[in-house]
Amino acid sequence: MQNWDELYQTCMACQKCPLAETRTNVVFGEGARDAEVMLIGEGPGEQEDKTGRPFVGRGGQFLDEMLAMIGLDRSKIFIGNMVKCRPPKNRDPLPAEQDACIGYLRNQVALIRPKIIVCLGRIAAMKLIRSDYKITKEHGQWVEKAGVQMTAIFHPAALLRDPRKRPETFEDLKSIQAMIQKVCQHTY
Ligand code: URA
Ligand code: SF4
Repeated sequence: MQNWDELYQTCMACQKCPLAETRTNVVFGEGARDAEVMLIGEGPGEQEDKTGRPFVGRGGQFLDEMLAMIGLDRSKIFIGNMVKCRPPKNRDPLPAEQDACIGYLRNQVALIRPKIIVCLGRIAAMKLIRSDYKITKEHGQWVEKAGVQMTAIFHPAALLRDPRKRPETFEDLKSIQAMIQKVCQHTY
């Protein structure tokens, strides 16, 4: 395990998988280093690759709106991704790419020690919660893993594509808010 600064430098220079060849910037993730809540997406898109910041495109703006509904903003949480470099044309990250990158995310989780992890979309849920996770059926349900409360919600991009999923996601957000009140100590 590396400390925060070592890990940051390692990620910035990482060439462990082929995504290194096509990326513009590594997207390390950002937010509070003592965050009680971590949000984990799939991988950087075009805007994220350009800026080096997670969730800054259209999906990211929508994510900000969702967070605001339950009194959260980026300064209070940490937002990261399954893979830190953009998959070409925003395809799903391949299993080998996820396997190459996940150690960095695990190192981040070990340093931050969050109380709650929210997977954004099925890719993160399948890797972090259960390999046969069914997002349509199981979103919003909680499982505890190694003392961390874990859940998944639809990916913001999916919510932009299909507004019919939004009411269910609003329920999930309220459930996240309730879980924060139950297990977190910071003020939100
Ligand atoms: N989609 C993701 O999954 N992650 C980002 O950082 C941006 C869009
Ligand atoms: Fe390294 Fe992860 Fe980027 Fe692959 S996606 S090059 S493992 S930082």
